[in-house]
Amino acid sequence: MSRVLSCIQPTGPVHLGNHLGALINWVAGQQDGDAYHGIVDLHALTAHEGEGSPGLLGSQTLELAAMLFAVGLDPDVATVFVQSHIHEHSELSWIMECTVSYGELSRMTQFKDKSAKREGEFISAGLFTYPALMAADILLYDADEVPVGDDQRQHVEITRDVAIRFNHRFGETFTVPKAVHPKAGARVMDLQDPTSKMSKSASTDAGIIFMLDDDAVIEKKFKRAVTDNDGEVRYDRQAKPGVSNLLDILSACTGTPIGSLESSYSQYGPLKKDAAEAVISVIGPVRARYGDLMADRGELTRLVRIGNERARTVAASTLARVHSAVGLLPRV
Ligand code: TRP
Repeated sequence: MSRVLSCIQPTGPVHLGNHLGALINWVAGQQDGDAYHGIVDLHALTAHEGEGSPGLLGSQTLELAAMLFAVGLDPDVATVFVQSHIHEHSELSWIMECTVSYGELSRMTQFKDKSAKREGEFISAGLFTYPALMAADILLYDADEVPVGDDQRQHVEITRDVAIRFNHRFGETFTVPKAVHPKAGARVMDLQDPTSKMSKSASTDAGIIFMLDDDAVIEKKFKRAVTDNDGEVRYDRQAKPGVSNLLDILSACTGTPIGSLESSYSQYGPLKKDAAEAVISVIGPVRARYGDLMADRGELTRLVRIGNERARTVAASTLARVHSAVGLLPRV
């Protein structure tokens, strides 16, 4: 059974785009592979600097864990862990920093983009060495496959290069992972700006459906969703991005093919209403399970611990292998 690792940063509330685009595939795939899911809070530190909100990252981490269980990840099947709770990540990251070159890190487009955007502001060294920590995440678990979007492919490539280099230098130690395209999830767009992906970096929340929005808020956001003036229910991402997005969301939530949805609606009002209802029926039960978990910290902690313990065992044995390959003095 191949091992699949995907990680998510605890940078804020989960929305419908995360859910339909990624999380439901994690849940559907948990039986097919040996699935590892890291909540990568240390990576989130690269975005958090200077925000001055002590404790925020910790609560976002716990909330994300509760959400992952609420959407259906089963701790007895999938290994859900918190990156900072497995100290081997930071330790292997240093060794990765000494295996990757300055030149390679300098060529990472994510670093170039993010540091250009922050020109004149504080840019941490962590933003630069980020791929070394990501390589550690992947290599610690001997992951065979890493499902990532295009923006993270280069980081998986550099992980492969580093693994191959290390194996060459110190002997076969790491499984060389490969990036795989995640099973195509729905591409959910912002309801107010349907040409942009639903994302928490949007300027307003009006077009974002958060998993914890209540029914009335969801209905209102759908009612106000941007469409167009030609009044025809037809799927055309280019010409009719708003209507197409509603059709995509409704289809993803109900399993009804787009084609048959197109022919069963002649007006936008009912389409919006049904899309809202379908979303509510998908996320309503998730919200309830999330509420139960957040109300029972003992149980939530127990679930996190199950994954952490499994992850820790694997990570500790990989790191021991690495120390011995490098030839560090055995611990006394
Ligand atoms: N860099 C990834 C992102 O921003 C998150 C991540 C960290 C990750 N470590 C990983 C993804 C390991 C896959 C595997 O989305």
